[in-house]
Amino acid sequence: MPASAPLDDALIRLAFDLSPSGILVVDAAGAIVAVNREAEHLFGWPREDLIGHSIEDLLPERFRGKHTSYRSGFMANAHARPMGVGRELFGLRRDGTEFPLEIGLNPVTSDRGLFVLASVVDISTRRQLEENLSTAFQRDIQRLIHADGFIGRSTQIQEMLKLLARVAETDSTVLIRGESGVGKELVARAVHRQSPRSRQPFVVVDCASLHENLLQSELFGHEKGAYTGAVRLKHGLFEVADRGTIFLDEIGEITPALQVKLLRVLETGMFRRVGGTADLKVDVRVIAATNRALETMMKEKSFREDLYYRLNVFSLSIPPLRERREDIPLLVEHFIGNSALVPKRSVKASPKAMEVLTRYLWPGNVRELENVVERALILCDAGSIEPEHLPLGVRLEPSFRPTEDDGRLVTLEEVERRYVKRVLEECGGHRQKAASILGISERNLYRKLKDLEPHSEP
Ligand SMILES: Nc1ncnc2c1ncn2[C@@H]1O[C@H](COP(=O)(O)OP(=O)(O)OP(=O)(O)O)[C@@H](O)[C@H]1O
Ligand SMILES: [Mg+2]
Repeated sequence: MPASAPLDDALIRLAFDLSPSGILVVDAAGAIVAVNREAEHLFGWPREDLIGHSIEDLLPERFRGKHTSYRSGFMANAHARPMGVGRELFGLRRDGTEFPLEIGLNPVTSDRGLFVLASVVDISTRRQLEENLSTAFQRDIQRLIHADGFIGRSTQIQEMLKLLARVAETDSTVLIRGESGVGKELVARAVHRQSPRSRQPFVVVDCASLHENLLQSELFGHEKGAYTGAVRLKHGLFEVADRGTIFLDEIGEITPALQVKLLRVLETGMFRRVGGTADLKVDVRVIAATNRALETMMKEKSFREDLYYRLNVFSLSIPPLRERREDIPLLVEHFIGNSALVPKRSVKASPKAMEVLTRYLWPGNVRELENVVERALILCDAGSIEPEHLPLGVRLEPSFRPTEDDGRLVTLEEVERRYVKRVLEECGGHRQKAASILGISERNLYRKLKDLEPHSEP
């Protein structure tokens, strides 16, 4: 066979008809002059019914106007190009249904003038697959978030989780800040679990619970005979955590001497066992947490500045629960569902109880909420948590709040007014009972009520 056998017309026609794309040839005025089999199949019209008709008839009505002007633009500057990539383009079938499509446009010049050859691909299957994939992906992400168990839909938490996912991928040191009980350890675990080190050890060290010497030998280990009682070699937690992550909780509590040693590991990855002379090298990612104001400690010289900067490469701040009250109902549900009291897992918190829970200030944050829910689950029996299952402190708090919501301090008189009012409410207006709780005489209570009256809320 010669290298370039001329294609005869019959062969070209056959190729035209066998093409897996729908092909439509349109003249300069937009009338269809030729279609292939796939085009008949795609739009559901026989060839005879398509020839001579406007290409716009094959589009849903809402696109027709735009398409006409697009077509004249194309004719004025004709060159091959795809149409509507990344945009929502649809074809209209004979039965009135629509399908998403992609179009390639090619100008064809013949002795009869300029034509456009449009090749059309139905992308509904691809779209469907993409959608399924994306839902599956979303589901996986949801599962991941849940696996890490960090609940929260408030923007603050969502933003924090985004930062967390970013920093987790790196090897950067992370400093987690937040009040007691906000979930610092949970966040530290999530960082580890989402990191490339997730299959390696995650070692927790509570720096507040150990005395300096003990903490030092916990962290760095000791040689046999390093001190009385050191009867055998002990590997330190930095060694145990090699290739993994070490979580130094309550970092603000470590003594200046240990701060120096820690700084050295952070800077060089090297340390010595207590009583040892050899430098050991480890590859450990450090996550530290604190509820202390390290900046103040630094000014007071109780926390080394160089260590502070080494630790504070990337910080994740977890806001207190009272600043993200929308997370409370979600957390309550989560703690009920996760309760060890299996028969109580279908219990719900009544709207009244939920109102009390969302109003309270939660000085002990999520940990306190978890305990309150657990206690309520023990007390409640008939399938719902009611305000009476909540501790008095949680119930009392909203009206008796020594500060305003914005944290502004109020006068002693104002505090007294609120408290008296609250106790009276608790006693259902029974003044004798209220007076006895307040530890004052009834007459005294009358007097106070009179004095406080002018300020009382409408
Ligand atoms: N967003 C959250 N979703 C689910 N559980 C949470 C969340 N935040 C905290 N918890 C739970 O609250 C409890 C306290 O969390 P964690 O121990 O991580 O707090 P912490 O900040 O380390 O507290 P502390 O400063 O007292 O050590 C844990 O039982 C934890 O599982
Ligand atoms: Mg903790």
